[in-house]
Amino acid sequence: MKIAIVGCGYVGLVSGTCIANLGNDVICVDINPEIIEKLNSGIIPIYEPGLSELVKENIKAKRLKFTLNLKEAVENSEIIFLAVNTPQSDNGEANLTSIFKAAEEVGKYINTDNKIIACKSTVPPNTGTKIEEIIKNKTNKKFYVASVPEFLAEGRAIEDFQKPERIVLGCNEFYSEEKLKELFEPYGRKDLNKIIVMSRVTSELTKYAANSMLASRVSMMNEISAIADIYGADITKIREGIGSDKRIGKEFLFPGPGFGGSCFPKDVSALAYTGSSINPVMLQAVLERNILQKQVPFNKLKNLLGPITGKTITVLGLSFKANTDDVRESPSIDLVKRLISHGTIINVYDPQGMPNFKKILSDDSIKYTESIYDAIEGSHAIILMTEWNQFRNPDFEKIFKLMKDPKVIIDSRNLWNPERMRKIGFKYDSIGRP
Ligand code: UDX
Repeated sequence: MKIAIVGCGYVGLVSGTCIANLGNDVICVDINPEIIEKLNSGIIPIYEPGLSELVKENIKAKRLKFTLNLKEAVENSEIIFLAVNTPQSDNGEANLTSIFKAAEEVGKYINTDNKIIACKSTVPPNTGTKIEEIIKNKTNKKFYVASVPEFLAEGRAIEDFQKPERIVLGCNEFYSEEKLKELFEPYGRKDLNKIIVMSRVTSELTKYAANSMLASRVSMMNEISAIADIYGADITKIREGIGSDKRIGKEFLFPGPGFGGSCFPKDVSALAYTGSSINPVMLQAVLERNILQKQVPFNKLKNLLGPITGKTITVLGLSFKANTDDVRESPSIDLVKRLISHGTIINVYDPQGMPNFKKILSDDSIKYTESIYDAIEGSHAIILMTEWNQFRNPDFEKIFKLMKDPKVIIDSRNLWNPERMRKIGFKYDSIGRP
């Protein structure tokens, strides 16, 4: 099939590449010439395992193309995906300026009947109806607007896209439903029930519901871990104890320094805004717990270290989770800001996240380093923030020698064994574990 993707950000790039990899002809469009130039020469602006190889392969096979020319993309495509960002406004509401602008531009270039405009961006309920109105003002041709939300997670985006657990198609007409089923059918060959069809507005809300449900699990576990801390109970055992109940399930029950990223904080806020007339107390609580949780690593540091002004603190991990260079809404931003305001000397290390972090915080008191050991040398304390594989089993004896007293470790991902850490001599604390 002939496909256009509008927006070469995270979702657009991964979707476009994976759809091309099925044999479709895909044209990805963006308004940023720098991004397009990079992509055409095979340079990927984000770190995502496996993506670079797949992009190069599909460019070479001439199935994937990046362009600034929206007209060409729209005219040559049967399905046009909108994958532009829908950032959060100050009041929590989703900012739809880019998506409405994209819809308007697409509308201008619709040259034949029956094109499908499929919205992949996460948008509030009924945005599809507004997109439809915008396009109607620009063309006399017949067209369809559908909602095809994206559920991929950063760091494992290719796998998520190619082996989805479900594909949600929000279609108000049979024609768009059939066409989109045809496109996504290869992913459902083993299990046709993977494709779930619903109305457009239900699909829009399903995406928010998925992220809000997941974020609420994280906030709930974070809150229970704080209660576990009061009583010396062990959240890891609690996780096993509840996760073995099928109704709860084992996934997504890890406490940590609070959730971040480009989706959870923004989407829970947007849903709360959308539902403000029903007083969405659950969603507000999920967000409030997350704000509190982001303070936990710092508070634990103060407890073990005492006065922190003038001390050297190492922050291990800047990206909001492992396997991504994305630092948007990362709990490390909050932490480092707090450390700066308390006059500490800060060493940081992250395998991928440092360039993006520098763009957000370029304070002179932050020293960006080349390895865990460089970062740790001469530190009074370490705060582990991101669960990168390379942080799982470093040389703790070496770390012990490199650090200055009192050698505090705050492990906000519960990666390390408390007993082993204390035996080596560290003053160690983690999240919800004795
Ligand atoms: C999420 C959804 O998983 C994905 O389906 C959607 O399309 C986009 O939003 P992503 O933001 O990439 O994906 O990250 P995810 O792996 O879901 O983690 C979100 C946040 O929750 C991270 O900060 C992570 O560290 C945190 N988290 C996750 C926990 O603290 N504990 C967990 O058990 C799981």
